[in-house]
Amino acid sequence: FTPKSLAGKRLLVTAGPTFEAIDPVRGITNRSSGKMGFAIAQAAQEAGAEVTLISGPVALPTPRNVARIDVQSAQQMLDAALLHADAADIFIATAAVADWRPANSAEHKIKKTEGQATPALHFIENPDILATIAKTPAAASGKLYCVGFAAESDNLIEYASAKRKRKGIPLLVGNIGPNTFGQDDNILTIFDEQGHQQLPKASKRVLAKQLLQEIALRLQPAH
Ligand code: C5P
Repeated sequence: FTPKSLAGKRLLVTAGPTFEAIDPVRGITNRSSGKMGFAIAQAAQEAGAEVTLISGPVALPTPRNVARIDVQSAQQMLDAALLHADAADIFIATAAVADWRPANSAEHKIKKTEGQATPALHFIENPDILATIAKTPAAASGKLYCVGFAAESDNLIEYASAKRKRKGIPLLVGNIGPNTFGQDDNILTIFDEQGHQQLPKASKRVLAKQLLQEIALRLQPAH
């Protein structure tokens, strides 16, 4: 693995949680810290790639020489990903995208009024960003290499292999979740057409480098 093994490659990565508005001051989010995605963005940049990082709301500094696009909702994250996917060679979806969003986000702050009924939230499904990008012509033709993440609390091998096929992607990275959220260390298992392989417990920085090495090995030779 040479230090510049991703030279000339363009990498697009999603990171962090999404924030789904209930009204202008309230919303639904999750506890993803964005650390894994930011570590991948930084390691890819150091390996010579041109990196675009689409991030939900996180408290992390932008890695050096990485183009960062901040978004809030899953829909905004999808729009940004679609805008940049065509130009990319690698798409890595690390974001913990909210599965559902409130069906109607109120235009004005919902007031708490004495004697009024507690508001009820109704949800609709969010788009699956990874599955959508995996269906674009760039990905379908093999030009854009798509990588997903999966956090499973049990049956990792079975669930993650099934998820890779369901999402239509060549590589899926499994971790035992959700206790990896916010942690600096992780254990990753990578699943591809051939089977699976574990990357032992290490910092997200070290794992990011190892994962990018595995991806570089699997990229189609340039033609
Ligand atoms: O289906 P699940 O949420 O477990 O899949 C996780 C993978 O799919 C991650 O790579 C995540 O970034 C991606 N994903 C996505 N859009 C969604 C849900 C998940 O890109 N709406």
